[in-house]
Amino acid sequence: MSAKDELEQIAQQVAQCQLCELHFSRKRAVPGEGPANAEIMFIGEGPGFHENEQGRPFVGAAGKFLDELLGKIGMRRDQVYITNVVKCRPPSNRDPKPEEVEICTKHYLERQIQAINPKVIITLGRYSMGLFLSNAKISEVHGQSFWVKGRLIVPMYHPAAGLHQLSLKPVIEKDFLRLPELLEKSRHSEQESTPPSSFDSDQPAKQLSLF
Ligand code: URA
Repeated sequence: MSAKDELEQIAQQVAQCQLCELHFSRKRAVPGEGPANAEIMFIGEGPGFHENEQGRPFVGAAGKFLDELLGKIGMRRDQVYITNVVKCRPPSNRDPKPEEVEICTKHYLERQIQAINPKVIITLGRYSMGLFLSNAKISEVHGQSFWVKGRLIVPMYHPAAGLHQLSLKPVIEKDFLRLPELLEKSRHSEQESTPPSSFDSDQPAKQLSLF
């Protein structure tokens, strides 16, 4: 099956998913969107109010900021794949529960990553960072790159954090400005299947989890 077909199949399954309690309160599931051959994949936390209404990821205020950040590196959102750890909005924007994260990543996110096979995965916020770097602190590792099981992971602050805490905005912008360079390096790296202990002189991940 082509990556595009696989992503479409996952999206259909997500739309009908009843594997956890989040399906009771969702209006629309949000599988994610972007080209099947995207080199960059963004993983946020979970749909918010607007995403739940529209069935699309990052379409509210945080999404506008994400679009702006992409613009700063000369990219548009239709060139990247954008999704979330959980595909349905947790009621009242509560944190996703561990079992919801586990079910959703196992059934959908892992398959999306495999289908797209991105050069770089940007985690937005601590939930998605936690899938790859279980003991990391976002304040210590944001903007750095880590090889985790053959994938280049770059944890970043969630764009919403930059909207709530204005001092973080330039930090997030600076991290984003490194993306083209990281992408270029990952394109030429032959190390993907045998990860080096560190990449681009950044610290290696201390501990890995799901993937
Ligand atoms: N925040 C997220 O983590 N994901 C979205 O899709 C929107 C807001």
